[in-house]
Amino acid sequence: MQSSPVRGLRGELVYLRPLEPADVDVVHRWYEDVRVQALMGDPPISRADRHRRYEEAVKSADADVFRFMICLLDEDRRIGRTDLFDLDRQNGSCAFGITIGEPELWSHGLGTDAVNALMDFAFGQLRMERVWLDTDALNERAQAAYAKAGFTQEGRFRRAFYQDGRWSDDIRMALLREEWEALPRARSWELAAREYEA
Ligand SMILES: CC(C)(COP(=O)(O)OP(=O)(O)OC[C@H]1O[C@@H](n2cnc3c(N)ncnc32)[C@H](O)[C@@H]1OP(=O)(O)O)[C@@H](O)C(=O)NCCC(=O)NCCS
Repeated sequence: MQSSPVRGLRGELVYLRPLEPADVDVVHRWYEDVRVQALMGDPPISRADRHRRYEEAVKSADADVFRFMICLLDEDRRIGRTDLFDLDRQNGSCAFGITIGEPELWSHGLGTDAVNALMDFAFGQLRMERVWLDTDALNERAQAAYAKAGFTQEGRFRRAFYQDGRWSDDIRMALLREEWEALPRARSWELAAREYEA
């Protein structure tokens, strides 16, 4: 169940495409891994419930959420999920979340590449001014990836969530339009154009 990159939604290593109901099994398998569960902090849900949610999610053309699969460009393989949500069109802001589903693929630059593609969509297509997210203060790999994509730490929410018998803090990070504009990297649409020029 693969398809092509959507225009404006690719990086150097990965591309993003809309989530499909048929992606439910691979995503469910990723979330069965306790290492992924621990970092995402999601409550346990059955495969049937996830299936129902995906069916409903793709049925409702909700303009406030964009749900994507992250796929490797060279192998055309599904490796993760990312979403833009909480779109506030008046103030030009939205949040995002991301998971690379297979821990063996962590720290290979794929997450940063997917965030870059997503930011090109948020700023280059949706005209956002600010994209933000909250992450576990202990999740240093995630913070390093977002910093590489240009994000800045804005603050700390103390005792923001409870897991494994203890409270943890969240770190708020954000990227502003002018910071995205100043990033010295090729944009998603430039990478796509290069492929046709080659
Ligand atoms: C967070 C996530 C998307 C980042 O993607 P990734 O492909 O692993 O990240 P990247 O390789 O692009 O960048 C990670 C950077 O952190 C560094 N890093 C790894 N472990 C680290 C640690 N413990 N402390 C500090 N830096 C660390 C890596 O070396 C890399 O930097 P480098 O390229 O300069 O060497 C991915 O790891 C993931 O899905 N993790 C599980 C779910 C999760 O945590 N989601 C985020 C919730 S907010």
